[in-house]
Amino acid sequence: MKDTELIKQKIDIVDLIGEYVQLKPAGINHKGLCPFHQEKSPSFMANRERQSWHCFGCNKGGDLFSFVQEIEGMDFVDALKMLAQKAGVQLTNTFEDKEASSQKNRIKDINAKATAFYHHVFLNTDASKDARSYLEKRGLTQETIIDWQIGFIPDQWDLLTSYLLKKGYSIDDLVASGLMIKKDGATVGSGKGFYDRFRGRIMFPIWDVHGNVVGFTGRVLVETEKSGGKYVNTPQTSVYDKSRVVFGLNKAKQDIRKKDVVVLVEGQMDVIACHQAGMKNVVATSGTALTSEQIVLLKRYSTNVNMAFDADEAGAKAAKRGIDIAVEQGMRVRVIEIPEGAGKDPDECLQKNPEVWFTAVEKASPMMDWYFTRTFGGKNLSDPQIKQQIVDVLLPEITRIPYAVERDHWLQQLASRVGVDRNILREDIQRLEKKAVPVPVLHVQAPSSPQKPVVKKPLSREEVLFERYLMAVLVSGEGESLLHVQDQRFPQFRSFALYPLYEKLKVQYTSDRSLQTDFLREFFEKQDEENILDILIMKAHLELDDLDAKHMKHEAEDTLFGLHDTLRQARLKTLELALRQAEAEKNQENMREILREVQDLNTM
Ligand code: UTP
Ligand code: MN
Repeated sequence: MKDTELIKQKIDIVDLIGEYVQLKPAGINHKGLCPFHQEKSPSFMANRERQSWHCFGCNKGGDLFSFVQEIEGMDFVDALKMLAQKAGVQLTNTFEDKEASSQKNRIKDINAKATAFYHHVFLNTDASKDARSYLEKRGLTQETIIDWQIGFIPDQWDLLTSYLLKKGYSIDDLVASGLMIKKDGATVGSGKGFYDRFRGRIMFPIWDVHGNVVGFTGRVLVETEKSGGKYVNTPQTSVYDKSRVVFGLNKAKQDIRKKDVVVLVEGQMDVIACHQAGMKNVVATSGTALTSEQIVLLKRYSTNVNMAFDADEAGAKAAKRGIDIAVEQGMRVRVIEIPEGAGKDPDECLQKNPEVWFTAVEKASPMMDWYFTRTFGGKNLSDPQIKQQIVDVLLPEITRIPYAVERDHWLQQLASRVGVDRNILREDIQRLEKKAVPVPVLHVQAPSSPQKPVVKKPLSREEVLFERYLMAVLVSGEGESLLHVQDQRFPQFRSFALYPLYEKLKVQYTSDRSLQTDFLREFFEKQDEENILDILIMKAHLELDDLDAKHMKHEAEDTLFGLHDTLRQARLKTLELALRQAEAEKNQENMREILREVQDLNTM
């Protein structure tokens, strides 16, 4: 039996998904809120019998493996490995000894060894005395230091790397881990020109959600001219991607889920101080603004985020992009404001008065309130130009909100505070939005009678896509792609105005693997519809004129994908309704039928 089949037998899909999503039985399915998009009523379902899942909201779906790929951001091989381990299945193809994948494991190994080394040096050596008293002064307890495996490395050239070389790791792997730096021109074996990246620093391991150390951040102990940045991080490596890692998430995830809110702070020390003070739903990005990958990761645990960033103009600016992305991705963003004089960051605030910090987190105000307060603050509202400026600042923030009711709430607020009618704001929204390029619609009609009013009804969106696809195929000579249209799956194809043309092209292409328009012309002449072809080709040249052959091919493919997707989604919507009906009627047979088709559509 194939490994994948064996794994599917051993792991119950409902149990597995249940680790990420709260599922409730519903007929032969289990239902819950989709972890891949924002929704209020459950349209995500898992089916034990068929070992499949599907979301009717975002139309994602598949099996165990695709679920893990999607939710963990893994590729197929990693998902397979993870599930094999869970199922206790020995993979016949281990995918190992491909140099890259085993080097990844060696790097994780190196990171684990380095963590232990730094930590040991911190706790047990004379060279770490200053580091120990520094962290003591900053209020970290022994328990915290052990919990976060905090370490130290004295300011020497190659303490860590010579230790790791003695352990048998190769220079190549050490360089690939980011812990060792190779000077230009240095060669392996000369023993010269290699040194530690982290020197004279307090070391914080960075874990991924699964608890692997993927990198480090090092804080300089004594800032000097030569010490470089206050914090130095592991560079991009095959296991460390700073835009995908959230510092502290491995320790915070349970609490984030429980409290249904993430507290996002700026610094590693802030995270650790918060956890030590008993606030454990706190994480940080490592010296970057929040990225969309990090948001996807966080959204698994909660869609509410309370952010503390430097309240000054520069701090707010730096955080702005991350906030925008978070709002666009449906997160509810609130702003934590540390009161004037209570400390410059959460760590300082906790030192001075923990109560103040806890209250600030509790009282965090919605992002939009914060924008409103700042934008309206001290402005003279009797000046129309100033009113316009305020609207220009706030409208883009409001239109970013993906929830219609909330968006409308803020529009109303803005309108009433500026003192205009809400419809006036709509005009401004249109002005601010770049006008969407309309999809050109071809009306099939004889060019000899241009004056005649168009009697044919405009093509539907599906037909327009179909038409564009045919055009692209015609001018690019990409006849092959005709064969990929699985029209039998989509009865709608057959009712398209251009379907006869498509059929002819397909038949003709299948018979001699080329597209000859002469042949088609003949056909359409007989049908008294030759103009369809002429118009299509003309239109194609107009539309696709500046595309070279390669782009034409892409155009044909893109259009085809777009078409398939549109039809697929329409079909899924229909199936969803049918499934509801079948559920209500407790018609298990129908439910099975529908699910089978849903699964087919998912694997297209
Ligand atoms: P801060 O300069 O505010 O430092 O940088 P901090 O967190 O308060 O650190 P302490 O309290 O002085 O120890 C905030 C965060 O920005 C990143 C780090 O993640 C830091 O925690 N940073 C800062 C860097 O990556 N590099 C730097 O040189 C400085
Ligand atoms: Mn600080």
